[in-house]
Amino acid sequence: MTTDRLSAVLEHIDNDLPAAIERLKDLLRIKSISTDPAFAGDCDSAADWLVKDLQSIGFETSKRDTPGHPMVVGHAGDSGRHLLFYGHYDVQPVDPLNLWDNDPFDPQVEDTPKGKVIRGRGTADDKGQLMTFVEACRAWKAVHGTLPTRLTMFFEGEEESGSPSLIPFLKENSEELDADIALICDTGLFDDETPAITTMLRGLLGEEIVIKGPDMDLHSGMYGGPAINPIRVLARVIAALHDDTGRVTVPGFYDGVPELSDELRAQWEALGFDAEGFLADVGLSEPAGEAGRSVLEMIWARPTCEVNGITGGYTGDGFKTVLPSEARAKISFRLVGSQDPHKIRESFREMVRALLPGDCTVEFHGHGSSPASVMATSDPAFEIARQALSLEWPRPAAFVGGGGSIPIAGYFKSILGLDSMLIGFGRDDDLIHSPNEKYSMDSFHRGMRSWARILDALSAD
Ligand code: BES
Ligand code: ZN
Repeated sequence: MTTDRLSAVLEHIDNDLPAAIERLKDLLRIKSISTDPAFAGDCDSAADWLVKDLQSIGFETSKRDTPGHPMVVGHAGDSGRHLLFYGHYDVQPVDPLNLWDNDPFDPQVEDTPKGKVIRGRGTADDKGQLMTFVEACRAWKAVHGTLPTRLTMFFEGEEESGSPSLIPFLKENSEELDADIALICDTGLFDDETPAITTMLRGLLGEEIVIKGPDMDLHSGMYGGPAINPIRVLARVIAALHDDTGRVTVPGFYDGVPELSDELRAQWEALGFDAEGFLADVGLSEPAGEAGRSVLEMIWARPTCEVNGITGGYTGDGFKTVLPSEARAKISFRLVGSQDPHKIRESFREMVRALLPGDCTVEFHGHGSSPASVMATSDPAFEIARQALSLEWPRPAAFVGGGGSIPIAGYFKSILGLDSMLIGFGRDDDLIHSPNEKYSMDSFHRGMRSWARILDALSAD
């Protein structure tokens, strides 16, 4: 139902779109790459930008320092359902920079065969997305002079680097952040026409390994043969992580991995996911995961082990006959069900140690870890939001799984006892974490309108 109070807000959103794009561009120009200490000042500036912007909409907002990058918390309204909205203002590194068609921090609106997009780092993950909610609030406030319900905004600047400050921050501020339900805008649509509420997310475990052999780099002619080569050892370790059916071989890895329920399998099959098209869009033709599993199951319901980076020896132009003294790899595991990240970390380390030949040592550097999370969809807010989304988009909203990880969804539940509703408007071809990231203008525009509808519906019942 489109109430009068809502249609005025939707109209305002439509008329204000050009200004909303300019505000988004402003935020996108800030190079808030959280993982690289060289950009700490930019992360701080992005937090300041958000504080100012939220204050301009009437949120009582402050920047909260942490040992890492600051959080931003803002409050508005004092009655009605209390909604806690979360987004992250940090972005992924831009390299390889030479693969970008334009400066990643000079966002531009472009025409593409599939419609207008805004291109730049952070457009889809997550600045464009978080601004859909901010803009919906701005429009509501402009039209009605107040917001429709009690709202707390919570923005993080470390999501892309494992959220190291998050757990202590949530614990220390649990009373202030307590709400009826959390809303997270950091996920995608099911397809270009079908909005989605993501009900399960995979967890993540990051491990970096450094395999060391000889004391120094050596001439590969003088020493090749007798001297152990750490790159070969690393290759053997990496090759041993999967068997021929695509299963991960780390002992105990599948403990806590549930089989998909018949109900969920049927629900996902009914979505009519185009697995071939999904792969074809990135130049692939056959699924390379666990044998006997559908592509959707592989992404949404199965755990994985992937090598995200590997270095060692001479990687510059030309050729150098070197036998390196060390080799490194960054390896991540996506987790599902009740897989325990800590146990898997230990088991993985044990396995690597056991594969080392004489004269080799290994150093481990643990990166973030978070378990998988499944949302309890029994809160009536889920059905209310599903209906509101279905009014805005060509097709009705679907409940879906998500392959990525958003650590806070699990912590909202375990620390604050809060269920999260994950609603986002990203698309598979947004190139998040890659060169030429973009966000569709249709997503930005309908995203704002979707939130206005959801705010209306959640504050009316
Ligand atoms: N927005 C993504 C998560 C995401 C992507 C959810 C696609 C659903 C579909 C998020 O910002 C992200 O990329 N998270 C990282 C986690 C992190 C700890 C580095 C991820 O999933 O790799
Ligand atoms: Zn994100």
